[in-house]
Amino acid sequence: MSSTLFRTKKVEQSILDTEEPEHALKKSLSALDLTVFGVGVIIGTGIFVLTGTVAKNNAGPAVALAFVVAGVVCALAALCYAEFASTVPVAGSAYTFSYASLGELPAWIIGWDLVLEFALGTAVVAVGWSGYIASLLDNAGWQLPAALSGREGADGFGFDILAAALVLVLTAILVVGMKLSARVTSVVVAIKVTVVVVVIVAGAFFIDGKNYEPFIPEAQPVDAGAGLQSPLIQLIFGWAPSNFGVMGIFTAASVVFFAFIGFDVVATAAEETRNPQRDMPRGILGSLIICTTLYVAVAIVVTGMQHYSELSVDAPLADAFKATGHPWYAGFISFGAAVGLTSVCMILLLGQTRVFFAMSRDGLLPRFFSRVHPRFKTPHRPTILLGVVIAILAGFTSLSELAELVNIGTLFAFVVVAIGVIILRRTRPELPRSFRTPLVPFLPIVSVLASLWLMLNLPAETWLRFGIWMVIGAAVYFAYGRSHSRLGRHEETTIDGGANPPRGEAP
Ligand code: ALA
Repeated sequence: MSSTLFRTKKVEQSILDTEEPEHALKKSLSALDLTVFGVGVIIGTGIFVLTGTVAKNNAGPAVALAFVVAGVVCALAALCYAEFASTVPVAGSAYTFSYASLGELPAWIIGWDLVLEFALGTAVVAVGWSGYIASLLDNAGWQLPAALSGREGADGFGFDILAAALVLVLTAILVVGMKLSARVTSVVVAIKVTVVVVVIVAGAFFIDGKNYEPFIPEAQPVDAGAGLQSPLIQLIFGWAPSNFGVMGIFTAASVVFFAFIGFDVVATAAEETRNPQRDMPRGILGSLIICTTLYVAVAIVVTGMQHYSELSVDAPLADAFKATGHPWYAGFISFGAAVGLTSVCMILLLGQTRVFFAMSRDGLLPRFFSRVHPRFKTPHRPTILLGVVIAILAGFTSLSELAELVNIGTLFAFVVVAIGVIILRRTRPELPRSFRTPLVPFLPIVSVLASLWLMLNLPAETWLRFGIWMVIGAAVYFAYGRSHSRLGRHEETTIDGGANPPRGEAP
């Protein structure tokens, strides 16, 4: 039995599957499209909303250092992702990579993890978007009825109609086709980056050096009764839970990590890339470098404009301008944030439908979902199914806990990918790799440790939820995926009865 759980899908088979006409996606993306895609999904709620929260609660002006820490963890993971994405250029990201290296069960777990993480991530960002739109409408003197504007609605009932509507409109755009989505994305990304650059350049003139004192505020003990809400690492080692100080930077990093989520989504578009061998690494690393630079600059400027203890938690960038007496900038930034969050939502939605599509094509989820649309050539069935589910989720869920859950899931995927790089180098050393992760196995091991470190800085409660989620996933695999796996069926018809499909030469 254990041999079937760890059966691997040959890399050549993965590539061959993408060439079956009824399961083939259009190959239309370039390195520039991928970078735009990356920046489009990376810059979002993390920088526009979480910067204020973590500066105020965990790190003070040192939130800039938290962005550096999270950026380094992501860069290490990116170097592993880039090798895998350029070796296994098929839809499905970490899911496909693990199927080729670690085996079916780990691949299933990762796929399950990614679909749900992206779903929750999309919902979180849609809710953030709806907040900015509501505030813009408010400026114009319009207000939605309380029950339709979110979970804090009248009499305990609230359905965030704006967030749900956004998800449904984006679903329709994705069904119509990749090309249209990429074009819309480029315009949105241009607006978003302009806004971020304006924050940095204009904000630099309003910095008051006194706000940087102290740059790393002294550690402060937190309520001992917080229990499960304390970072797991503090519970494991019995450290007194605290905020700020050096440990506060790491707690902050594990939260602002959300701001970097998305570069891995670039890898999910490998199959739709014209020259994945060359363009994937460029797209992934390029978008990550641009975003890290912008984040650190924004964090330094914003904490210089307003004392960290006074930063707003809802719209810190816009409110810092209001606090320095420049409301015009604030309106412009809110508008840009609302536009920017649209593209984040769309790309997260796209990434997860592609993972779902890849799992279905492998038979681990019903094959019904992997027939592409005859005219648009998009996986319309999973796109519509997931779009509707997320719209409902975005209407009803609350933001903060979900963001941490998204982080732990993504970090877990990083761990698996880094281990996968080492394993695939050993099991398939001969595969062509246009991008090779430097210093293997040292760098992937450091990547695993760095991701684990951030995971340990997340609350114990988040670990618990993540565990439950994974147990449900394992149950679904044993009830459906294992017996319907296309790879498993292929094995049954071969005579060798071994753990792998017949060893033919690469096509
Ligand atoms: N990185 C994305 C954001 O910050 C998910 O919203």
